[in-house]
Amino acid sequence: MPEIRPYRPADREQVARICLLTAAAGGDATGVYSDDALMPEVFALPYVEYAPELAFVVADGERVLGYVIGVADTAAFVEWWRREWAPGFAARHPSPGAPTGREPDFTEAQLLEAGTAPERMLIDELAEYPAHLHIDLLPELQGQGFGRRLIDTLRGALAARGVPAVHLGMDAANIGARAFYDRLGFHELPSSRVNSPLLGIATSQAGAAVSD
Ligand SMILES: CC(C)(COP(=O)(O)OP(=O)(O)OC[C@H]1O[C@@H](n2cnc3c(N)ncnc32)[C@H](O)[C@@H]1OP(=O)(O)O)[C@@H](O)C(=O)NCCC(=O)NCCS
Repeated sequence: MPEIRPYRPADREQVARICLLTAAAGGDATGVYSDDALMPEVFALPYVEYAPELAFVVADGERVLGYVIGVADTAAFVEWWRREWAPGFAARHPSPGAPTGREPDFTEAQLLEAGTAPERMLIDELAEYPAHLHIDLLPELQGQGFGRRLIDTLRGALAARGVPAVHLGMDAANIGARAFYDRLGFHELPSSRVNSPLLGIATSQAGAAVSD
């Protein structure tokens, strides 16, 4: 039976792989970009490097099947990313690679930009929603309640650190994820846009009942 446990450094490659396998609006993004390392290097690995204590996985023995990752203070994370992550990323990925023939809406050039310009994460609502998260489960783990439990686990960890609320940005094409977030009580933030939804929720379950 899979169980939720804190992230360990040995989980790193499995987390990167799950990120890739769920990065195309919830589906497999293998081969979409010229380098399969790009998506994990923007949407997963910086998080487990910067805040491993806010990463939780669902594991069946040594096999990782899903994760939630987050940062408590997005502004501080942006500073760290500029200083510690962007230089290495830029050196590894100086320019877009050969076309793959897949033409995603989020282009490879935009992905490279995301890796070097973390300011995109400085949303207007950061004072009220300082934390943000990403969650991804392999298809075999989906629909069994682990997504809800992972979100609850992260919300609890953030609440214990005094963080009042958490936000996330998502691909508007990911209809299933939107239904999931709506079901859990996430709401749209003022700077949310149709093409790039921005959702938020209080970290404390009690607070959630009142304000969400
Ligand atoms: C989206 C995701 C995190 C949801 O996790 P999950 O474990 O499948 O969801 P759960 O089983 O915990 O569902 C929690 C609730 O949301 C609802 N829900 C989940 N997915 C849903 C869907 N596609 N449509 C409608 N409702 C959905 C469930 O019915 C459930 O309701 P209940 O608790 O009241 O019974 C997971 O499916 C996933 O990782 N998908 C691929 C990657 C992805 O899209 N990540 C998000 C990127 S923004």
